[in-house]
Amino acid sequence: MSSFCSDNSNRFADPICNRALYETPRRERMPCLLLHGDSNIGKIKITAKFRRAHPSEFDERTGVERCPVVSVQMPPTPDQHRFYSGLLFELGAPHNPAAGLATLERLARDILRRMSPQMLIVDEVHHLLAGTYREQRASLNLRKYLPNDLQISMVLVGTRDAVLALQTDSQMISRYRPFEIPRWRESENLRRLMAAFEKVLPLRKPSNLSRREIVQVVLEISGGLTGAISTILNDAAELAIRNGDECIDIAHLERVARAHV
Ligand SMILES: Nc1ncnc2c1ncn2[C@@H]1O[C@H](COP(=O)(O)OP(=O)(O)OP(=O)(O)O)[C@@H](O)[C@H]1O
Ligand SMILES: [Mg+2]
Repeated sequence: MSSFCSDNSNRFADPICNRALYETPRRERMPCLLLHGDSNIGKIKITAKFRRAHPSEFDERTGVERCPVVSVQMPPTPDQHRFYSGLLFELGAPHNPAAGLATLERLARDILRRMSPQMLIVDEVHHLLAGTYREQRASLNLRKYLPNDLQISMVLVGTRDAVLALQTDSQMISRYRPFEIPRWRESENLRRLMAAFEKVLPLRKPSNLSRREIVQVVLEISGGLTGAISTILNDAAELAIRNGDECIDIAHLERVARAHV
C-alpha cells in the first residue's frame, strides 16, 4: 500500500516555494538554501512535489526545452565526474561517461546555460563527508561557483551531516540559508496529515486518525518521522483489513509497534 499526503510537503515546501528563492531575477549572488532534516522525514518528497509544480516546457521559438527546476543526487562520494555524469543524465543529455571530467563539466554547463533553469536542487549533500579532504573542497567549490556562474538558485538537501559539511567553509555558510525540516510534534498540521492519510487508506470504516490518543501513539512509535508514520499507518491498515475490523484503533497500532521492535 502506498499513499502520499500533501500536507507535509505543503508545510515544508514553503522554504523552496519562497518567492525570493524561485523568482529572484538573475544576478550574480542568487539566494541559496540548505534544506536539512533527519533521514526518512520526507525531504525527497518535498523537492519532488516542487519539481512537479514547475514542469519543463518546450520553447517553440528557440526549439529548446526549458526546465525551470533541475534536480540531481550527489553520488555516494563527492566524485565530480559522477556528479556531472548524473547531472547530464538528469538533463537528458547523451554523453560518453568515459569522457574526462573537463569535457563533462563543459557540456553540463553549456546545457544548463541553454536550458536556463531557475533552480538546481542537489540531494544527499551529506555524502560530501564521505570524501577525502581534497574531494570535499572541490565539491564545495563547485557548489559555491555554480550559482554565480549560471545565475541560478541552488537548494542543497541532506541530513544534519550536510550542515556539518558546509560549516567547514565560512563562505558556504554565509551563502546557503539553512532551513531545518523538524520532526513532527503534536500540532494542527500533524492532525491534518493524519486526516489526509485516513482519506487515502482503503478502509471501509472511519478511524478518526486525527484524534488525540491516536496521534500521541503514532508520534511515540514513529519518533515524528513522516516515513515511519506512513509505514505504521499502512501496516495498521493492512492488519485491520486482514482481521476484518476495517478501521485503525490503538490496538492495531500497538501490534504494529511490537512487530517493528
Ligand atoms: N507527505 C507524505 N505523505 C506520505 N508519505 C510520505 C510523505 N513524505 C514522505 N513520505 C514517505 O516517507 C518516506 C521517506 O521519505 P523521503 O525519502 O522523502 O525521506 P528523506 O528525508 O529524503 O530520507 P533520506 O534522508 O533517508 O533520503 C518515503 O517512503 C515516503 O514515501
Ligand atoms: Mg532523501
